[in-house]
Amino acid sequence: MLTSGGYANVLYEAELTTLSRHPIPAGLTKAEAKIYAHLDPARIPQHVAIIMDGNGRWARKRHLPRIMGHRKGVDSVRSVTEAASNIGLPWLTLYAFSAENWKRPRTEVDFLMRLLATYLKADVATMNDHNVRLEYLGRTHELHESLQDVMQWAKEETAKNTGTVLSLALNYGSRLELVDAFRSIVDKAKNNGGLEHLNIDEALIQDHLYTSHQPDPDLLIRTSGEMRISNFLLWQIAYSEIFVTDVLWPDFRGEHLLDAIRNFQARERRYGGLGQNGQENPAKESSTKPSPAKNGHAMPEPVLVSK
Ligand code: FPP
Repeated sequence: MLTSGGYANVLYEAELTTLSRHPIPAGLTKAEAKIYAHLDPARIPQHVAIIMDGNGRWARKRHLPRIMGHRKGVDSVRSVTEAASNIGLPWLTLYAFSAENWKRPRTEVDFLMRLLATYLKADVATMNDHNVRLEYLGRTHELHESLQDVMQWAKEETAKNTGTVLSLALNYGSRLELVDAFRSIVDKAKNNGGLEHLNIDEALIQDHLYTSHQPDPDLLIRTSGEMRISNFLLWQIAYSEIFVTDVLWPDFRGEHLLDAIRNFQARERRYGGLGQNGQENPAKESSTKPSPAKNGHAMPEPVLVSK
């Protein structure tokens, strides 16, 4: 059933589609559609990775226990996943539980484990509706067995989906991932002609990471203003663009993801070279240079362009 708000939204989307240079995908919120109108659909990143941070501070600001921030953070996971799938983002990776997070109080760790299981059970149907496939990164075999069972079930339930791959980093640490990769390289070599034939290069290491089948993230987002990488995808983010927003994770929504992508699209990726024009720093001269990021809104006010 179409509500009056829904009808207004359909009209708004139609109007935006007429005024923007390209069609607006169905399902975006009004705020998302407004930003999408300014994106170049041909340059949506292949892979966005997010360090979800600020749940505790979100709760503290409201005099709530920390776990309420985590609970609210699930709404953000849903909003961001839905937006990612609507815009056709192929890979979305979320840092949900680090290998260092076990140091937190037992009650908080147990809550997070239960929350993850509850989320997976509740959201598999929506993931299927949105053609989202689940994957996990990390030493998942060390997680609670009951959680592992739910994870396995959710992965199988979504295995046939062909849209966005939602990769949840759970009990993940980048240094541990490298340790696991080196161990696996040595084991394989031992069983395959011995160490003396081992030829180590970047491709070999890449092939033994948890993410061997994924493209590297084009864009790494961190919420809550912290300028840290926190042992996340250290190898994979070698050339990722980094976007830090002050928005706390429980307040982060699809529109913030799109805003980060808009900021990303205004940058020039140089991979250590000199850029397209061979100038010292052509990005600085670009007319699409974004205004400084503030609360995750780094874009100038949108101006809709007639066809
Ligand atoms: C960091 O905030 C957040 C985490 C360690 C957990 C992330 C978990 C969620 C967002 C909940 C659900 C996740 C999924 C995938 C369903 P923090 O607690 O370190 O915040 P603080 O720095 O403000 O204390």
